[in-house]
Amino acid sequence: MEKFAVQGGRPLHGSLRIHGSKNAALPILAATVLAEGQYSIQDVPHLTDISVMLQILNALGAKASHNNSVVTIDTSSLFSSHIPEDLMGQMRSSIFLMGPMLARFGEVTIYPPGGCAIGERKIDLHIHGLKALGAHFSSTENYIYCQADRLIGADIDLAFPSVGATENIMMAATLAQGTTTINNAAKEPEIVDLQNFLNRMGAKVQGAGTSKIIIEGVARLDAIHYQVIPDRIVAGTMLLAASVAGGSLTIENVIADHIKPLIEVTRQCGVEIDYARDIINVARKGPVHAVPLITTGPYPGFPTDMQAQLMTFLSLTRGSSIIRETIFDSRYRHVDALRKMGAKIEIMKNEAHIEGTASLRGAEVDATDLRAGAAMILAGLAAEGTTLVSQVHHIDRGYERIEEQLQSIGACIKRIQT
Ligand code: UD1
Repeated sequence: MEKFAVQGGRPLHGSLRIHGSKNAALPILAATVLAEGQYSIQDVPHLTDISVMLQILNALGAKASHNNSVVTIDTSSLFSSHIPEDLMGQMRSSIFLMGPMLARFGEVTIYPPGGCAIGERKIDLHIHGLKALGAHFSSTENYIYCQADRLIGADIDLAFPSVGATENIMMAATLAQGTTTINNAAKEPEIVDLQNFLNRMGAKVQGAGTSKIIIEGVARLDAIHYQVIPDRIVAGTMLLAASVAGGSLTIENVIADHIKPLIEVTRQCGVEIDYARDIINVARKGPVHAVPLITTGPYPGFPTDMQAQLMTFLSLTRGSSIIRETIFDSRYRHVDALRKMGAKIEIMKNEAHIEGTASLRGAEVDATDLRAGAAMILAGLAAEGTTLVSQVHHIDRGYERIEEQLQSIGACIKRIQT
């Protein structure tokens, strides 16, 4: 079993290049089944979820490989529309194949998707959207079979701006007959990146980044070369790493606009941040203070994927803060571990009430999910003594070799075998 051993108390210095976005790359990889041919996708990080997606594509008959940060996929030889159960269960993003497979092959069999245990994660909005396009669903206890002779454009209202459902419907609608409108669509940057990818393939999608996306169906799409956007959650995590550990850090290959809510909060707390379009300088020189209330929300709100890491930071500020989680119903599994390290946090329904403390102390803690694991590493960077973080496979789902990245800017962190 692997663990991270983090020795706290070292300020961070230097510069760091952020890798490509996992959440942009996953739907893009799924979208490659929409056209036959050879793709090359650049800046795809080496992460467990990406590797599972490539294994699924290979199981369906594609020829996908990942060298350095480039994924090469040939989709000409796809022969199956049956997503293997064991791979499907390993990550939620396997659900992204539902829309593209239906559009290209008229059928797909899926199993309940896996993913981080951060609350109830339904797929009803995905199904609602695909049904509106004319897909039929039949299910047993174990699997769901979806079929559509022809997808037909439709007006679709989403009850909640789900990122995954918006992406699934967008992909399916590219090859549907007629026009599809998605109302109350999610506005995340990864959706804009998917629109750009699909349009480069020859699709006619507009409006991504707003709450109304319009897709005019086309008869065929072509395989392309593409580069995915930088990972805003990794960038935000590194910004907070410097904010908790102190020192000064330059973050490169980032789209500063994508992490504006985090920049605003940390600045308000007293962290010095200046930025241009694709570079951010962070400096933490003196004490930082609390913020009254941070509420997570759909983009451009504060991202739920930064909530745990922000909680580590707020635990070390002067004063009291409240975090209100509105996206997932069980996303406070990092709180017990932070408390074990000396943080003062009370949970009241969906709110975390945080009383800042001057220091944390090293402890043995679990990475209960991906972002919770990142929050534990940040806590370890600031704590007195050594922090041992176990269940690091969760962290490897979203951060490529996080220990090497942090070592390169002066952190004392090692991956150890136990
Ligand atoms: C994506 C991100 C994830 C992030 C989340 C919210 C990817 C690969 N993952 O996940 O990192 O935390 O957005 O920003 O991009 N919901 C339903 N029914 C559905 C779909 C969603 O009720 O059919 C609910 C979920 O249970 C959750 C909320 O909507 O409470 C948000 O989910 P959604 O936006 O779909 O997140 P994901 O696409 O799963």
